[in-house]
Amino acid sequence: MILAGRYHGIELDADECRIPVGESVPSAASLSTWAQNSGLWSRAVRLRWRHLMHFNNTSPVVLLFTDGTAGLLTGVNVEHSVIFLKDPRGQAAEPAVPVDEARLAEAWAGEAVLLRAERGVAEADEPFSLGWLARLVMKEKGALRDILLGSLTLSLLTIFPPFLVMTVVDKVLAHHSLSTLILISTIMLIGIAYETILGFVRRLIVVIVGTRIDAKLNLHVFNRLIRLPLDYFERHPAGETMYNISQIQQVREFLTGKLLSTTLDMMTLCVLLPFLFWLNVTLAWLVVTCACLIGLIILAYLRPLRAVFKRVVDAETTKQAALGETVFGIKTVKALALEPERRSLWDERVADAGKWRIAFGRLSNWPQTLVTPVERFMWIGVIMLGVYLALSDKNGYMVGSLFAFMMLSQRVSMPLVGFARLLEDYERVGTSIGQVGSVLNRPLEVDAASGGLRPRFSGAISFDDVTFTYGGTKTPALDHVSFSIPAGTMLGIVGRSGSGKSTITRLLQGINRDYTGYVKIDGTDLREINLRHLRESFGVVLQDNFLFRGSIRDNIVAGRPGLTLDDAVRAARLAGAEEFIERMPNGYRTYIEEGSPNLSGGQKQRLAIARALVTDPRILILDEATNALDPESEALVNANLVRIASGRTMVIVSHRLSSLTECDQIAVMEKGRVMDVAPHHVLLERCAAYRQLWSQQTRHMESQGLRHAAPAPALIQGD
Ligand SMILES: Nc1ncnc2c1ncn2[C@@H]1O[C@H](COP(=O)(O)OP(=O)(O)OP(=O)(O)O)[C@@H](O)[C@H]1O
Ligand SMILES: [Mg+2]
Repeated sequence: MILAGRYHGIELDADECRIPVGESVPSAASLSTWAQNSGLWSRAVRLRWRHLMHFNNTSPVVLLFTDGTAGLLTGVNVEHSVIFLKDPRGQAAEPAVPVDEARLAEAWAGEAVLLRAERGVAEADEPFSLGWLARLVMKEKGALRDILLGSLTLSLLTIFPPFLVMTVVDKVLAHHSLSTLILISTIMLIGIAYETILGFVRRLIVVIVGTRIDAKLNLHVFNRLIRLPLDYFERHPAGETMYNISQIQQVREFLTGKLLSTTLDMMTLCVLLPFLFWLNVTLAWLVVTCACLIGLIILAYLRPLRAVFKRVVDAETTKQAALGETVFGIKTVKALALEPERRSLWDERVADAGKWRIAFGRLSNWPQTLVTPVERFMWIGVIMLGVYLALSDKNGYMVGSLFAFMMLSQRVSMPLVGFARLLEDYERVGTSIGQVGSVLNRPLEVDAASGGLRPRFSGAISFDDVTFTYGGTKTPALDHVSFSIPAGTMLGIVGRSGSGKSTITRLLQGINRDYTGYVKIDGTDLREINLRHLRESFGVVLQDNFLFRGSIRDNIVAGRPGLTLDDAVRAARLAGAEEFIERMPNGYRTYIEEGSPNLSGGQKQRLAIARALVTDPRILILDEATNALDPESEALVNANLVRIASGRTMVIVSHRLSSLTECDQIAVMEKGRVMDVAPHHVLLERCAAYRQLWSQQTRHMESQGLRHAAPAPALIQGD
């Protein structure tokens, strides 16, 4: 498998292959998932001998044998009917051995994995635009063709009734021929039945195609959204993002609704127009002129409408952002009794959005008002002019065709007006596409799946003259930072708020990558390392951690495959979470609601630590992770720190110096600079800033110590 990957220039990491529990040897399916996660195109397939014969001059195919081993198919010789197999355990230079059908059948039941390098830009990486959407829709060729065919037939069918009416009026009435009437009625009935069935099928296909496109769109959108860099989410309110994304619904509805039906109507028009002109040229011109006039009126209003609509969208977006903010921050809102303020903010936003909606409604009322008389005139005009023409017609045959014309002209004006309206809608959808694009068409995080090195970390970290400034700020958050720590040691980071401690941990995780200087892990430049590999090798615990809805066990394992309850228990024990989990009524199966209201802050924190530890990461980052803990559980975690730290590198950011004294080295940060890096006792002697921090905190502790005789019970209550 790795050999096959190498053929395509991608180095697969055997450690990343996740074999589901209960599988002794990796199945074709899990192998291909592994390759897909690493950025290859891959499929697990079942093949027969005759299929193999087609694999000449193609990339290698992995054949899985029944005994659990595998071979690489490097080529076939159709004439001699042999395939060339390579033993992956053999030397690279070893030639492939020819194998014939009978010999292969002994060891191979047909399981194989196909691999291919991803083509140029994957579909998922193309920018989101109308063209992209159109291509997505076009993928449903078969269904679209059926719809087109059905619609064409339908539009042809619509021509029949007017002609039958014409015949009835002209022939039946004129000649009193009852038999013709019966015949015509029968044809009509058959036609109606046919039209009903066809209409039913067409609508069904439209629904199915719409749903399929919907599903694809949703997958695509989420896929891109989740690959946006953290930066984006930090700068944009969640409500705004969600509102923008939800606009995709409008685009989809336009594509499979209005656009489709208008296109179909236009087709009907193409079929009908010649008939109209054939029936009566004068009347036909009247209809076409009126329809064009309607179109022009609507077109004239497009531009001003667009401008106002943009304001509507802007107002709606800020409104949604306000709603999102209130919902996400509801705890703070309630705690500070900010409800009136939030409500007045909301009122303001609603009023603003309403104002622009009314403006838009007022403006769009005009074209509709102007169109009405033209539409009516077209209708009445056809009758009046037609009757006049019929009066002056000697034969009297004109009456029938007038009926036919009136029935048909309705079908002509509708698509023409519809087409003009379509342009109006297109403007609106254009805005929606812009909105969705504003979220999705941002540079994605460096491709997390493919590319980059996947070294095995031992955990030495070094910063070499790193300077970093957040986008939109002037002062650097990190200013020529240099330090290095050997693998397997503990680094503490202290400093005032805003001194750049968290920034250091962010650079380490590859969240911000546009810094100067070098961040290296085991001597490898961090920017060269595959991002997903990097983050999977890290365990990170932040001050405020998000727990997902699900059981405690699910939250610790967090969906990472191949982990069992035992792993979860081990991690929980290490994190000091075991005692409270076991006291819970359902233990590891206790259900955590969204926002985890049934857990205390400290319990949440210990779960987060367990979640970070469960994969046994080489490097563990704790960013003020123990600050939310009560003294008792903090002491528990701190006591475990040494155990937690064994065999991995730890970076601990903390305001409480007392929890860092065990660290091998402590970095003192001040305004983005590293003042000093040394163990606790050395810093106490030579670093004034550290000494000051220490004395501040110990003074506080001493004063607490004085009252130690009567410890405050509330503090030690724990959870
Ligand atoms: N996402 C961001 N965008 C812009 N500026 C930021 C961002 N995050 C942090 N900063 C700025 O960078 C500087 C360093 O922030 P950092 O979060 O590293 O501080 P810190 O030492 O972790 O502080 P604290 O102890 O309060 O967590 C601060 O001045 C802050 O204003
Ligand atoms: Mg911080």
